[in-house]
Amino acid sequence: MNPPVLITGGAGFIGANLADRLASEGRTVRVYDSLARPGTERNLAWLRDRHGERIRFDQAISATASGWRTRWRDRLWCSTSPRRWR
Ligand SMILES: NC(=O)c1ccc[n+]([C@@H]2O[C@H](COP(=O)([O-])OP(=O)(O)OC[C@H]3O[C@@H](n4cnc5c(N)ncnc54)[C@H](O)[C@@H]3O)[C@@H](O)[C@H]2O)c1
Repeated sequence: MNPPVLITGGAGFIGANLADRLASEGRTVRVYDSLARPGTERNLAWLRDRHGERIRFDQAISATASGWRTRWRDRLWCSTSPRRWR
């Protein structure tokens, strides 16, 4: 079985579409998102509706991805938006 992947900003436009693609391929996707940008809750609901338990969500604010790189290595995607949404 493929190990889970982590997407920061995973409830945003690019992140949610990437999560959808990976979950459709059978991956478990851990989504970290602050939900700071208006409308991202809808993206998250859409993902959960389509993929259920394959989508694991944590409402989190990421300052940097460097700490996660050690653990997630090539299974980490960062798709957070510009500073104004953080
Ligand atoms: N959409 C495009 O066409 C496009 C093109 C080129 C580059 N980009 C860049 O790609 C990135 C993602 O774009 P997008 O369109 O998906 O943006 P988006 O705003 O839809 O998604 C970004 C997500 O990151 C979350 N977020 C922001 N700061 C965060 C933080 N500190 N911790 C956790 N979550 C945080 C937001 O709540 C949002 O859900 C941006 O940096 C953007 O500038 C986008």
